[in-house]
Amino acid sequence: MSTGENELTDALADIPFNRAAVVGRELEYVRDAIESGHTSSGGPYSRRAADLLKEVTGAEEVLLTTSCTSALELSALLLDLQPGDTVVVPSFTFTTTALAFVRAGARLVFCDIEPRTLGLDPAHLAELMDDRVRAVVTVHYAGVACDVEGLQKVLAGYPDVALVEDNAHALFGTWRDQMLGRIGRFATQSFHDTKNLVCGEGGALLVNDPADVDRARVLYEKGTNRRAFLLGQVDKYSWRDTGSSFALSDVLGGYLLAQLEQRDRIQAERRRIHERYTEQLAPVAADLDVELAAPYAERGSAYHMFYVLLPDRDRRTAVIERMREQGVHPAFHYVPLHSSEAGRRFSARETECPVTDEVSSRLLRLPFYYQLGDAGVDRVVRTFTAAVRATAPGQ
Ligand SMILES: Cc1ncc(COP(=O)(O)O)c(C=O)c1O
Repeated sequence: MSTGENELTDALADIPFNRAAVVGRELEYVRDAIESGHTSSGGPYSRRAADLLKEVTGAEEVLLTTSCTSALELSALLLDLQPGDTVVVPSFTFTTTALAFVRAGARLVFCDIEPRTLGLDPAHLAELMDDRVRAVVTVHYAGVACDVEGLQKVLAGYPDVALVEDNAHALFGTWRDQMLGRIGRFATQSFHDTKNLVCGEGGALLVNDPADVDRARVLYEKGTNRRAFLLGQVDKYSWRDTGSSFALSDVLGGYLLAQLEQRDRIQAERRRIHERYTEQLAPVAADLDVELAAPYAERGSAYHMFYVLLPDRDRRTAVIERMREQGVHPAFHYVPLHSSEAGRRFSARETECPVTDEVSSRLLRLPFYYQLGDAGVDRVVRTFTAAVRATAPGQ
């Protein structure tokens, strides 16, 4: 492409950070769900979507929820947390990874991440474990497995502590021969419109221990055994336990089913986009003084995002501003939880998370979505590299 053509492309519409795609039969299924008259939860589309997700993941039970947040809240209720119990969570994550356990009565202990995968640091976790810890929540950041082996070694000394995978980024990611989401006692998925598969707002709880299935179904159905009733196991249903209204509407179930049916196509395209970014940026990263995530032989990525680490916060701010001026919209991630106002209020004790602080100030996410296309990737790369060069010290 000539320089003139580049300028023409660069003058076109903005490249957002994210854009949800219609890939298959989404509109048909949503319309049909509405026209069928069954728009609430427990209808045919959400049943098919849950069955497909169960088949693909191999989980004992899959309960579709209104969000990953509500799936985390359901997992927290299932843990039956008591006053004095604590839950270890990463500081480098979304608020509700932590908030869900606060709402169920636990106090938090914030754990740092390790710099390779940006997942929980097993060495820090080992220091934080004591007999008040009831659960450890891990995030597979960007769709890449955390140090699962390291975590399992620490948790081997605490057989009663539950591992919960906040798998919002990592559906279809793997660690060795295991699917992410199948390692913990529970795992939670997100189908928010920033995720690989979307339905507007939605999520799922994966239950991996057969012993949890019956109670999970009751808490999911507003504390009743309605699920057993729907499955024909009892002839009427009644209030049995705590719980809430967690279930996904069948309209969104239709949207999700259509996306799940297209999972291979969506994942293949996201992989291609990721590889194109890597091919273009890896050769110039050292020259630009930016770091890319390293590939790991034992980890299959879910290709949730493409991120880079800039030298420091000021440089990142300057790069974001320049890129936005050019109509390309990157994003940063996450504001550390351990030093936030609520994080301090809800934690059992103060902990230090220096890697979280550093990564949080340097990480930049490039636009990454199904329809980005080669021209989109190339324009993001051009805009990004120009912004990094223009903001270098001495420029
Ligand atoms: C790691 C992580 N967990 C949970 C969530 C919450 O997901 P949802 O919006 O589906 O509640 C997010 C949202 O981006 C996230 O990044």
